Amino acid sequence: MNYLKPRGTEDILYSDMDLLRWLHEKIRKIANSYNFNEIATPTFEERNLFIHSIGDNTDIVQKEMFLLETKTGKKVYALKPEGTSPVIRSIIENKIYDKFPLPLKFFYIQSMYRYERPQKGRLRQFSQFGIEVIGEANPFIESECIMMASSFLKEIGLKNKTVSINSLGNSKTRQNYKIVLKKYFNNKTMCDDCKTRIITNPLRILDCKIDSNNFNDIPKIYDYLEEKEKKYLNDVMEILKNNNIKYKLDNNLVRGLDYYTSIVFEITNGDNPQWSQNTLIGGGRYDKLIHQLGGKDLPAFGFGMGIERILIEIKSLKDFKSTTKNTDVFFISLSEKAFNLSFLLCSTLRKNNIKSDFNKDRSKDLKRQFRISDKLNSKFTIIIGEKELKTNTINIKNNKTKVKVNVNIKDMLSFIKGEL
Ligand code: HAM
Repeated sequence: MNYLKPRGTEDILYSDMDLLRWLHEKIRKIANSYNFNEIATPTFEERNLFIHSIGDNTDIVQKEMFLLETKTGKKVYALKPEGTSPVIRSIIENKIYDKFPLPLKFFYIQSMYRYERPQKGRLRQFSQFGIEVIGEANPFIESECIMMASSFLKEIGLKNKTVSINSLGNSKTRQNYKIVLKKYFNNKTMCDDCKTRIITNPLRILDCKIDSNNFNDIPKIYDYLEEKEKKYLNDVMEILKNNNIKYKLDNNLVRGLDYYTSIVFEITNGDNPQWSQNTLIGGGRYDKLIHQLGGKDLPAFGFGMGIERILIEIKSLKDFKSTTKNTDVFFISLSEKAFNLSFLLCSTLRKNNIKSDFNKDRSKDLKRQFRISDKLNSKFTIIIGEKELKTNTINIKNNKTKVKVNVNIKDMLSFIKGEL
C-alpha cells in the first residue's frame, strides 16, 4: 500500500455514511424548528482572523493550526480550527446585521482542522454542528440554546448527559480574578504547561487535566463576579431549572478560546467515562468579538457540537442498529438481449428514486450474479432470461421471503413500489 489517510482523519463508508446523513438530517430539522438559517464559510481563512478571535496564547493558535502560505508568501491562511470566527467575519463583511432583524440566528455543519495528538474522539479533521445567535444578550438566549442542545441529544437517544455552566464575568472581573489565581498558584507544583499558563492565562489552569484535580481550595470566580453578572447567571440557571434541564454550576469551567465573556457551558458524556475526550458540546457568550473584529458592538452567544464524538456515543448505545440502507433492486441478465433490457428497466426504477443496479460485466453466470446481489443486500433480485424476453415478463425474487413471482414488464414499477 503506497498511500494511507493522513493521521487524525477518517474515511466514512457505507453504514457510517448512512448514520452521518441521518444525523445531519436530524440537525437540520431541529435547527430549522428553532428558526436558525444555515451558513457555510470557506475551508480556510486568514490566519490573523483566528489569532485575533481565539487568542494568541491559546493552544489552538500556538500549536494546532494548519497553515497555508500563498506562492508569493505574502498571505498566510489557516484551515479553520473552529466555526465562530469565520461566521462573525462573514456577518461583518456582508453587513448582515444591517439587512436582517436581530438577533441573527445561524447554524453550520462544517469540517474543522486542528493539529492535535489524535485519539478516540480527537481528530485532526473533525466536523461541528455549530450555532451562533448575534445581536441580543438575554438569559433566554442562553437557556433556549442549552435547551435546544439538550433536547437534541435526547432526541437522538443520548440521555443522561451532564450540562455544566459557569460565568467568566466581564474583562475587569477576569482581570481581578487572574491576579487572585496568580497569587494562589504561586509556588505550587504544576505541569510545564501550567507553569506557562500562570503567566499567560492562569484561568486555563482550571481545566488542565493534570493539575485541576490536585487542588480543592481554588478561589471561585463566582465570588468575584459583579452583582449583575451573578444575577444573569442565576437567571439562566433558573430558566433551565423551570424547564427541567438538569445542570451543575462548575466554577472550574473556563473553555479554551479567549473570546468568551460571561456565560460558558459544556455538555459532557457523563455516563460514559470510557473515553477521555468527553466534551460533546461546548459554547458560551462572546459579547466583544464582533466589535473586536471590526464590526458593530453586538453581543453574541453560540455553541459547537463535535459530530464524530456524537457518532461514537450513538454507536455505543445498547440498542444501536446499523442503519445501512440496502440496495432495493438488483438485475440479473442471462443473455446479451436480457442485459440491454435490464439496463433500460433499471433506468426506469432509478427515475422513480428506487435504489437499483445491474450486473455490468455482461457475465451470464447466474451464481456469480446472485452472489453480487447478496453482497449488495438487495431486497429484490429481478432475473431476465430468454423465456422472460419472449413473454414480456420478468422474475422478481423477494430476497427476504424467498418468494419468486413472474410479473409483466409494464407492471414492474407498480409492483416494486407496492412492495418496498
Ligand atoms: P470547542 O469547544 O473548541 O468550541 O469545540 C466544540 C466541540 O467540537 C467540542 O465540544 C468537541 O465536541 C468538538 N471538537 C473539538 N476539537 C475536536 C477534535 N480535535 N476532534 C473531534 N472533535 C472536536 C468551539 O469550537 C467554539 N467555536 C464553539 C462555539 C460556537 N462557541 C460559541 N459559538
